[in-house]
Amino acid sequence: MSVGGWSVPVFATIAAVLRERAGLEFPLNRQSFAEAGIRRAMAKFMIDSPAAYLAHLQSGSASIEDLAEEVGVGETYFFRDPVQFATIRTRLLPDLVARRGPMPAPRIWSAGCATGEEAYSLAILLEEERLAVGARIYGTDVSEAALSAARRGVFSSWSLRGDLALIAPRYFRRRGDRFVLNEDLRGRVAFSRLNLATGDPFPEVWSGGLDIILCRNVLIYFSSDAVQRVGHRLLQSLAPEGWLITGPSDPLLQVAHPFEAVLTPGGIFYRRTTAARTVTRASTSLPRSRWKKPMPGVEDGPQHTHRAAKPAIAEVPVSIGDSAAAVTRVRQLGDTGAIKEAAGVAAEESATHPLCAELHFLHGMLLMEQGSHRAAADAMRRVLYLDPGLAVAQLSLGSILQRLGSKVEAWSAYQRGHDIAALQPPDRVMPLSDGAPAEHLVRAAKSRMAALAADWAYSS
Ligand SMILES: C[S@@+](CC[C@H](N)C(=O)[O-])C[C@H]1O[C@@H](n2cnc3c(N)ncnc32)[C@H](O)[C@@H]1O
Repeated sequence: MSVGGWSVPVFATIAAVLRERAGLEFPLNRQSFAEAGIRRAMAKFMIDSPAAYLAHLQSGSASIEDLAEEVGVGETYFFRDPVQFATIRTRLLPDLVARRGPMPAPRIWSAGCATGEEAYSLAILLEEERLAVGARIYGTDVSEAALSAARRGVFSSWSLRGDLALIAPRYFRRRGDRFVLNEDLRGRVAFSRLNLATGDPFPEVWSGGLDIILCRNVLIYFSSDAVQRVGHRLLQSLAPEGWLITGPSDPLLQVAHPFEAVLTPGGIFYRRTTAARTVTRASTSLPRSRWKKPMPGVEDGPQHTHRAAKPAIAEVPVSIGDSAAAVTRVRQLGDTGAIKEAAGVAAEESATHPLCAELHFLHGMLLMEQGSHRAAADAMRRVLYLDPGLAVAQLSLGSILQRLGSKVEAWSAYQRGHDIAALQPPDRVMPLSDGAPAEHLVRAAKSRMAALAADWAYSS
């Protein structure tokens, strides 16, 4: 008899132990993957009965960390989500220099670093920005195997598929089809094992002292309780004015003073403030779009960081009542083929209802239809400010960016759309998709990424 997606019920019990002791969650679409991981852990323990393995887990003779390591997803690559790295480069690091002088000796932690690409990307970024002197970069993960690979510093071209092509020759040497990171850079990251979910103490030396923490694409595997618990501990580890960065598809954290959520082009970043509280609605128990605050100067992406700040989405007067009627009106006009008129109405209505993601989405699609790709990208970004979890909007943004020639950003949007859809049951109809199920979006994202990768210098 099977339970959910598990082939035998005892796997469901093992998953419950993983949830209880490691905070890991396995929705239906990840259960077969998790089961394969549990079987690998059993094989390492030289046991072929799931019930016997469960007994060892419960008695403590089999370690929960070893099991978590097998079921964890270690997917990563250099400069993943380049807009987040651009935001670190153009805003976070300059702020640090402004506060601490030209040699600010940043303290940075990549929490859930997998095979090290994220931590080494930070080391490269600091080197490029000439801020490496005195810097400390830590990389931690629950998986000892991933950490060993990180310490070796030898990567495939697949790991280098991010925003690295131009600078790679400075930091890597080729060995056959592999890329070996310079020894100097390898020595700049201290890797150690740390389980975020089981309450392993964070090293004393980091307490309250980190300038930037990246914990990206890790919380997504945790139960909602574990997300908030771990998020809270990460926030507590920040230095004053320090930043916590999660992945665009990660769940949102609840924050309260002295922490605040800040809307950036790379998604929501979290900051430990030192200023007295000026905004009274800092908790995410309020509707999300009400508390989002844009980061001054970066609303339109890192290329526009010198422009004056626009008003925050949250500060625009809000009219919620009749946005559904406006959506219907725009759709009806679009369906009749009156694209220009529909786009005009969508522009007006999305200004009247700034918190209605669907209106911004329709506006973006209509602008794309008219060939106004830059304006379409802006509209699609507004959708994603409001709800970064809309896979269809991520894929649409990817298409627009691809047409604009921004391949790296397009890739990143496709990747986010893919990750969001892949977490859903395959037959779940996705919002804004006109009835397409999650599996269609996963396939579409994969084929677009494959087409993009075919163009790239480091793709094999
Ligand atoms: C998808 S990778 C993310 C890598 C990198 N942060 C990135 O975004 O590219 C997720 C990593 O989280 C790690 N992980 C999962 N559960 C963890 C836990 N409880 N404590 C620490 N690391 C964990 C996994 O071992 C895996 O290496």
